[in-house]
Amino acid sequence: MIRVEAPGKLNLALRVGSKRMDGYHPLNIVFQAVSVYDVLEAENAPEGVFELSVSGPQAHLVPTDDSNLAIKAARLLAGPGHGVRMRIAKEIPVTGGMAGGSADAAAALVACNELWGLGLGHLELLSLGKELGADVPFVVFGGTALGVDRGDELTEVPSRGRFHWALAFSDSELSTPAVFSEFDSLCPGSFEPPAVPQALLDALAAGDVYALADALQNDLQESALRLKPNLRSLMESRKLIGALAALVSGSGPTVAFLMRDEDAAQRAVTGLRALPGVRDAMAVYGPVAGAEIV
Ligand code: C5P
Repeated sequence: MIRVEAPGKLNLALRVGSKRMDGYHPLNIVFQAVSVYDVLEAENAPEGVFELSVSGPQAHLVPTDDSNLAIKAARLLAGPGHGVRMRIAKEIPVTGGMAGGSADAAAALVACNELWGLGLGHLELLSLGKELGADVPFVVFGGTALGVDRGDELTEVPSRGRFHWALAFSDSELSTPAVFSEFDSLCPGSFEPPAVPQALLDALAAGDVYALADALQNDLQESALRLKPNLRSLMESRKLIGALAALVSGSGPTVAFLMRDEDAAQRAVTGLRALPGVRDAMAVYGPVAGAEIV
């Protein structure tokens, strides 16, 4: 049996260009992998059997058929004689803007590569990940990275020390395509994605949490807030819980609060859990490694 841990991600910068012919928006992203994990266990099954079960607080929201990205990932790697049974213990919020589905795909790639002795290297897994979804390569990559094109062409970003976050998981979902089309109506025209702020890269390199708080940027945030207005009051609770900054994660609705240190993050969680619209809250840190065997 192989067990793989795959982290969730935050977008510290998410810069969006106008929709391309292929329906995707070109992006410039700074990703950080953070310490909330989906854990995937995989064991051999008879040829052609691809099974999945999911546990965790939102398991009922996760499809376990061939539409699940983990099954797609296993099928992508499978050759003659291969089959797999997978179990996912799911902690990353479902459609929460933290790449939860992509984490499971990345975990399945890493697990099946090992289980079947395929010997694929890091670069091959990154390129297979791209076929599954734009965020999958980053979950394989881990750490802190700049992503361009669909956010799936990655280079490492120097980052010093550890940053602490309090995450507020929403009690409802937000559809990624809906947030992008809201962005299209808010920002009409044809344009390239703006560059990620140099101040953000400098703050990461210096490990300066205060400078980071000022440099976070998400071009989808306004669209997410329009579709889910109660996120505005959640973000305003920033002062109440002593956060340095509040940021919608990706297309939302998870909100990440940047905290001074671990103690502050732990304390903020208690405050966040009491707020309306919050399903749960969690203290995490980043950067952490990408999907890996444990
Ligand atoms: O990457 P993911 O499969 O989560 O994307 C879901 C949908 O979000 C896409 O089908 C597309 O409508 C929209 N999207 C986009 N531009 C991106 C990423 C996603 O328009 N760069």
